[in-house]
Amino acid sequence: MKKKINVLLINGPNLNLLGTREPNLYGYETLTDLIKKLIKKSEKLNISLSHTQSNAEHKLIETIHSAQKNNINYIIINPAAFTHTSIAIRDALIAVSIPFIEIHISNIYSRENFRSHSWFSDISQGVITGLGLEGYYWALKTISKRCSIKK
Ligand code: DQA
Repeated sequence: MKKKINVLLINGPNLNLLGTREPNLYGYETLTDLIKKLIKKSEKLNISLSHTQSNAEHKLIETIHSAQKNNINYIIINPAAFTHTSIAIRDALIAVSIPFIEIHISNIYSRENFRSHSWFSDISQGVITGLGLEGYYWALKTISKRCSIKK
């Protein structure tokens, strides 16, 4: 049997409010429903998906640190508002040296100016922004493809 790809999905602050938070930007689906669907999709893609959401910067950093001992092959991260502020999370990702895809539900380039700067894009494998929740599926597909080619 083919070895599973271990993917860690990290969602940052306020994404626990998906479904009710600014639905015009983030949609009507809850985080719980999204994760359920992503896990189903992952199974088809030979991915073992784990997920963390936190509103606290230090928790996100600690989750990234533990990714190494948990044998995580790839990270998908929506740092939410920390995208625009957190050098600490950026440093954590550099420290563990695990490839990651940065994702945003909304198009950060079509909103307020302060959202156009990300502390993550230049060190990421790629950025998905503005594709809605679909973006998470594209991230999983990309990882599945890339990791299967490598093996
Ligand atoms: C977001 C965009 C960020 O600017 C914002 O602070 C978020 C969500 C997105 O998914 O579109 O909380 O990362």
